[in-house]
Amino acid sequence: MNEVMDVLMKRKSVRAYEDRPISAEVRDAILQATLRAPTAGNMMLYSIVDVTDQQVKDRLAVSCDNQPFIARAPMVWLFVADYQRWYDYFLASGVEAMCAQKDMSMRKPAEGDLFLACCDALIAAQNAVIAAEAFGVGSCYIGDIMEQYEVHRELFDLPQYAFPICLLVFGYPTQQQKDRELTSRFDEKFIVFENRYHRLEAQEFGEMFAEREGLRAKGRNADGSANVGQATYLRKFNADFTQEMTRSVQLMLQEWLK
Ligand SMILES: Cc1cc2nc3c(=O)[nH]c(=O)nc-3n(C[C@H](O)[C@H](O)[C@H](O)COP(=O)(O)O)c2cc1C
Repeated sequence: MNEVMDVLMKRKSVRAYEDRPISAEVRDAILQATLRAPTAGNMMLYSIVDVTDQQVKDRLAVSCDNQPFIARAPMVWLFVADYQRWYDYFLASGVEAMCAQKDMSMRKPAEGDLFLACCDALIAAQNAVIAAEAFGVGSCYIGDIMEQYEVHRELFDLPQYAFPICLLVFGYPTQQQKDRELTSRFDEKFIVFENRYHRLEAQEFGEMFAEREGLRAKGRNADGSANVGQATYLRKFNADFTQEMTRSVQLMLQEWLK
């Protein structure tokens, strides 16, 4: 297999790190690869906040649904879907006056712009993940950065058109993390379709979830759930953190669309 494929196929999320800093050289190489990611219209509709302040890491470890490993990561990057920079540039470039001259109203960043900026930010983040992996540096996405918008807005001084879409934590994996098996994926026939979407039927779910049901049967099901569907509904879909994420994202959206 070629080296890029090897990196892609062996990557796993890493949540426990050696007490070893990431050198400036490696950090910079990861950053350069990140900034080379494809970007809509070559506009780079994202910003990266390199969180180096231990106090801020400590706060994130709490505000992102109490995940203490965030505070122990040697490198923590916040990816912000960012239209503020371009909107400010439009204003600085006299776009308002140009629009008035042309008898048009100047539009503000709206839903489509936000989604495009989120795409840009996440695609850049994934470049960072893969570049890090190529240097033996593990990483983990923290989706919970979308929670507690008020807290994160203040913590990072985020203006109206800056949406914190993901947090990435990086570090050299401990031996236990290196030894850990890869997580499984669903069979591609349930995920990849030809030409048109295929909505799964009830009987297909049995096959799709067979492996996960097997793993589940080995564990304790203290939540009283009868299958993976019920367990996932309780543990993820209807969990407190998910409800908080929805509340927080609604607030972020209100701010963006004001
Ligand atoms: C958008 C997104 C958000 C995630 N958020 C978290 C998180 O908050 N905490 C965490 O420990 N892992 C998080 N993960 C990592 C996933 O749990 C992990 O990718 C998944 O279990 C598959 O494992 P693997 O990456 O080792 O293959 C997130 C992954 C993605 C893509």
